[in-house]
Amino acid sequence: MKQKASTPSGFAHATAIVETKQIGAQTRVWAFSHVQPEASIGSHCNIGENCFIENGAAIGDRVTIKNGVCIWKGVVVGNNVFIGPNATFTNDHRPRSPRSPHVENKYRDDAWLTPILLGEGCTVGANATIIGPVVLGRFCFVAAGCVVIRNVEEFELVAGNPCRRIGWVNEQGERIERQPQ
Ligand SMILES: CC(C)(COP(=O)(O)OP(=O)(O)OC[C@H]1O[C@@H](n2cnc3c(N)ncnc32)[C@H](O)[C@@H]1OP(=O)(O)O)[C@@H](O)C(=O)NCCC(=O)NCCS
Repeated sequence: MKQKASTPSGFAHATAIVETKQIGAQTRVWAFSHVQPEASIGSHCNIGENCFIENGAAIGDRVTIKNGVCIWKGVVVGNNVFIGPNATFTNDHRPRSPRSPHVENKYRDDAWLTPILLGEGCTVGANATIIGPVVLGRFCFVAAGCVVIRNVEEFELVAGNPCRRIGWVNEQGERIERQPQ
């Protein structure tokens, strides 16, 4: 496999574009992924193929991001988070084209930005859509295909569109009877 060293003791695939210097040891960035200069990524992360990490995005340590995921400005990813393939995050609740003359005031500053916080150890399933502003609590679990429109509690398991609680999970992602204290 063609690769070039562009992270400290980690690597980026030869087709990856890694512009940031804020990237931790042992982090891998796979083919056709782009990390912008003002994004930050911790250590021991794995960024899959066809990902985009935008200026202003912040990713912790030991995070796994599967193929086809965009992490936009305003998204903060905690340590040990798993993000499944093609999961989507939104950071503008009522988007219009910023180039449109109808919204030239809206996009003058960052007031439009709706943050998303992914708590430590949580899972976002494949193809889930997370609509900001929301907080995903520590170790919560968002099922595949789920549309999240509200905060998710710590250890809560949610599924469906819109998301509904279908149970609780432990740190390992296994079902448990009730929310840990
Ligand atoms: C959420 C999840 C963990 C549930 O698994 P589980 O605990 O074994 O639950 P079950 O399959 O027994 O399903 C329990 C109920 O939830 C429903 N359900 C399960 N997954 C669902 C989903 N993704 N969306 C909507 N409903 C779902 C089931 O239909 C079932 O409903 P019922 O009680 O009315 O019959 C699993 O389905 C899932 O989505 N995992 C994520 C997989 C993923 O994205 N991996 C990425 C790596 S490739």
